[in-house]
Amino acid sequence: MGFEGTGYGKAILIGEHFVVHGARGIGIGMPRKTTVTLEKAPSLSFSFECGDLLKEATRRVLEKVAGGTGFKVSVTSEFPVSAGMGWSASYCVALARAAAAAAGRELGDREAAKAAFEGERAFHGNPSGIDNALAAHGGVMLFKRGREPEPLAVGGKFHFVIANSGKKGPTKELVGKVSSIRAGNPSEYGALEEAEEWLIGKAIEALARGDAKALGKLMDENNELLARLGLSTPIIDDIRGVALENGALGAKITGAGGGGCVLILAPDAGKAGEIADKLGKYGAFGFLIE
Ligand code: PMV
Repeated sequence: MGFEGTGYGKAILIGEHFVVHGARGIGIGMPRKTTVTLEKAPSLSFSFECGDLLKEATRRVLEKVAGGTGFKVSVTSEFPVSAGMGWSASYCVALARAAAAAAGRELGDREAAKAAFEGERAFHGNPSGIDNALAAHGGVMLFKRGREPEPLAVGGKFHFVIANSGKKGPTKELVGKVSSIRAGNPSEYGALEEAEEWLIGKAIEALARGDAKALGKLMDENNELLARLGLSTPIIDDIRGVALENGALGAKITGAGGGGCVLILAPDAGKAGEIADKLGKYGAFGFLIE
């Protein structure tokens, strides 16, 4: 008999990079899931090809939640690995929930996020905790370093599309690049950070009002700040161009930039479908937050 658990993917709505340096950020738990199934087995085994990091992450989560690693692990996912959509966190949350089921209990969102954090450390060394909180909780959350993530009110339907430029930017290097801009030119960075904090406040209001038009504009403005930090690429600009020409309300880099994904906001489900079709070669798909 199998024990199952699920975890969500993630996208950053406003504030990537700035969150690293203490500003607020808003993240979305994408309603696209990774599902892990565990079957009791004599020792740890996998029904799929996987590397040492995933094996180590799996061991840590199983030890922590189930008190042992005697399982065969299977996984399916509704979104791609290594695209900046938080696959590793969604895997760790799904695994933690499946392990709890095997131990005859259920994990709350906070507990699942905490257990998954142990696994995430095997993948990322020093993860911020954003991905695993979103993978466990879903919905929309406000983040600030050193504080518990805070679920945000969503007062309407937001039709998002996410497109993958196909080449994930090296997060560590890009974070380093932004840190050196901050150190080398504190007054310019400070002005960008102030603008970002203003966007966060306005985005919280737009989400609560269900105002997609206003949120789209804020996403465009956030992209402008990220582009000024040198995080855009010609493919990202191309994806944004196609989205905006086809009726998007806004479009931005999501995650580290330098490649990776573009998050697009559409006015309705029909337009979201059209934009995803136009961006088919970038693996674009739509999802709804409400
Ligand atoms: O590389 P991604 O998509 O997981 O996004 C990283 C987001 C950053 O703000 C750049 C880094 C971080 O730890 O918050």
